Amino acid sequence: MERTFVMIKPDGVQRCLVGKVIQRFEEKGFKLVGAKLMTISPELAGEHYKEHVGKGFYNSLMEYITSGPVMAMVLEGKDVVSAVRTVVGKTNPLEASPGTIRGDFGIETGRNIIHASDSVPSSDREIGLFFKPEELQGYERIDNVWLYE
Ligand code: RTP
Ligand code: MG
Repeated sequence: MERTFVMIKPDGVQRCLVGKVIQRFEEKGFKLVGAKLMTISPELAGEHYKEHVGKGFYNSLMEYITSGPVMAMVLEGKDVVSAVRTVVGKTNPLEASPGTIRGDFGIETGRNIIHASDSVPSSDREIGLFFKPEELQGYERIDNVWLYE
């Protein structure tokens, strides 16, 4: 089954949105297979967001993402990479639809609460950056039979 990397950013943790955000993914039907509260080093932040090196917002993004603890997670489910991006909403929270996490909880692009992998290759890379294989749990949700046809 497909997996994706999700990270509640420092603003989401500081604003006590961790429980609400995880609840949305759980209720949707995605399985939480890994989770840890951690502070990202500048090295890890640079590796994670290396596609943005040189962009105008890069330095503020580095400062933001290393400014406090993040909640790093791995979710599993059918088409979970694109489905989670839909649940997360557009990058700019003011453009994100109501009902999405960014649409419901945020205002500014530089404080947009959550990261989610944008493709399967990205999710493979990002899961590998943040989690060791033994930190990911293999189990079956008890409602699995009612989530999948
Ligand atoms: P993410 O990688 O965090 O899930 O966000 P995303 O795919 O929706 O957006 P991306 O283009 O990858 O940008 C990464 C993060 O950089 C910050 N950003 N600031 N001020 C700006 O113009 C700007 N643009 C991007 C946001 O925190 C964005 O989520
Ligand atoms: Mg991105």
